[in-house]
Amino acid sequence: MARFPQLICLTLFLAAVVRHGLPSAPRSGGEAWDYVEVRAGAHMFWWLYYADSPSAGYKDLPLVMWLQGGPGGSGTGFGNFEEIGPLDRDLQPRKTSWVQAASVLFVDNPVGTGFSYTDGPDGFATNVSTVASDMLVLLQHFFTEKPEFQSIPFYIFSESYGGKMAAAISLELTKAVAQGSVKCSFAGVALGDSWISPLDSVMTWGPYLYSTSLLDDYGLSDVTSAAEKVKQAVENEEYLKATELWSVMESVVEADTDGVNFYNILTQQPDEKLTSAAGESFIALLTRRHIHPLHRQSLSELMNGPIRKKLAIIPQNVTWGGQAEQVFSFMAGDFMRPVVDVVDQLLTAGVNVTVYNGQLDLIVDTIGQEMWVKRLKWEGLPTFNKLRWTPLDDPASPGVTGAFAKTYKNFAFYWILRAGHMVPSDQGPMALQVLKMITQQD
Ligand SMILES: *[C@@H]1O[C@H](CO)[C@@H](O)[C@H](O)[C@H]1NC(C)=O
Ligand SMILES: *[C@@H]1O[C@H](CO)[C@@H](O)[C@H](O)[C@H]1NC(C)=O
Ligand SMILES: *[C@@H]1O[C@H](CO)[C@@H](O)[C@H](O)[C@H]1NC(C)=O
Repeated sequence: MARFPQLICLTLFLAAVVRHGLPSAPRSGGEAWDYVEVRAGAHMFWWLYYADSPSAGYKDLPLVMWLQGGPGGSGTGFGNFEEIGPLDRDLQPRKTSWVQAASVLFVDNPVGTGFSYTDGPDGFATNVSTVASDMLVLLQHFFTEKPEFQSIPFYIFSESYGGKMAAAISLELTKAVAQGSVKCSFAGVALGDSWISPLDSVMTWGPYLYSTSLLDDYGLSDVTSAAEKVKQAVENEEYLKATELWSVMESVVEADTDGVNFYNILTQQPDEKLTSAAGESFIALLTRRHIHPLHRQSLSELMNGPIRKKLAIIPQNVTWGGQAEQVFSFMAGDFMRPVVDVVDQLLTAGVNVTVYNGQLDLIVDTIGQEMWVKRLKWEGLPTFNKLRWTPLDDPASPGVTGAFAKTYKNFAFYWILRAGHMVPSDQGPMALQVLKMITQQD
């Protein structure tokens, strides 16, 4: 990873400011950001990039909100600089930036994530109900402050745990729009490698790893018994215990696969030693496994250096990522709870729901996603199941299949080839194409 001397970094940053204009400029290529106090002492940070397209003004392009996983991973940091924002981590333009096809709103949620912060422990959310109600406060403020976006089609895109939050938020937003308490044109939700049914993921890790030559018979047996323990805890609704057993199961997978990367099975765990250190809590271990890969040192230096200077509204004692472990810790008792019923409610309410999943993702493997999808009570499911998928060309290599897709009524599924957990990072051109298809630009 490139480490830029500070001077070069500052120069690049100034170049970026010149290119992107002053905050709040309501024009193509502009940006805006602010905090909203969503509950007493709970401050949520958002950062908007106006769409910047050579062929259309931002008012003719959709608005996409991006939610990162964890919980505790920062969208304004990782999603923005490592996945879909206009600049990459070295502040160089990203060819596959989503800003060329949509205005993009990054929100650091739950409270405590990224530049969001709470003044005290009461501010942390402990369940997705609070996560959703906090986001509704933010969206209410956002669409009031930026009324030009009220009539623009609004989509929520998400990754990993962000998908669980996106499902819950979408349901509350649907109600709020119907009641008139939030004024926006909500057009759909996209669940990328999303943590909708944790148990289905866990139960399929063994078969997936075995079928891809990453477990032998002994390994499959170890992973299967670890999964059975998680299953028992989930079925008994002992969710905190289930989270802890999930962490134990990850250690079993690591040992038996010689350190497969949970985010892409073709690679091994990078840098950090992931087995639990003496006396380390399982929460600290989970944070190291699942938040630190989103908050690597180079990104942290960028966010806590040039970016916080540019933003100029980050309180002095707030560090980007500083409360991430607490975010996870406060949510740990909710982590293994499924939200499949929420997806069913969205479908029944007529909300457009898309699931997209990377072929090489282990943590949220595609077969696990297919399992909960096949249990949906949605009335369109029998017909959806009977349809064949359609291959899609990879825009990066015409003639090569980059994905398969299937849509029926308000539900779509995209199988993204050669991508792991972070689809836009792994397959940028394909992800951009899928964004355009979901937002009806293609
Ligand atoms: C920052 O400092 C203020 C004032 O001293 C304090 O009230 C607040 O809790 C601190 N916030 C954080 C995130 O440490
Ligand atoms: C979520 O957490 C809040 C605050 O702790 C609590 O009041 C509420 O009852 C919880 N909701 C659910 C559905 O558990
Ligand atoms: C949902 O998607 C369909 C296309 O599949 C589109 O015709 C419809 O307008 C979308 N609904 C909303 C609310 O945007």
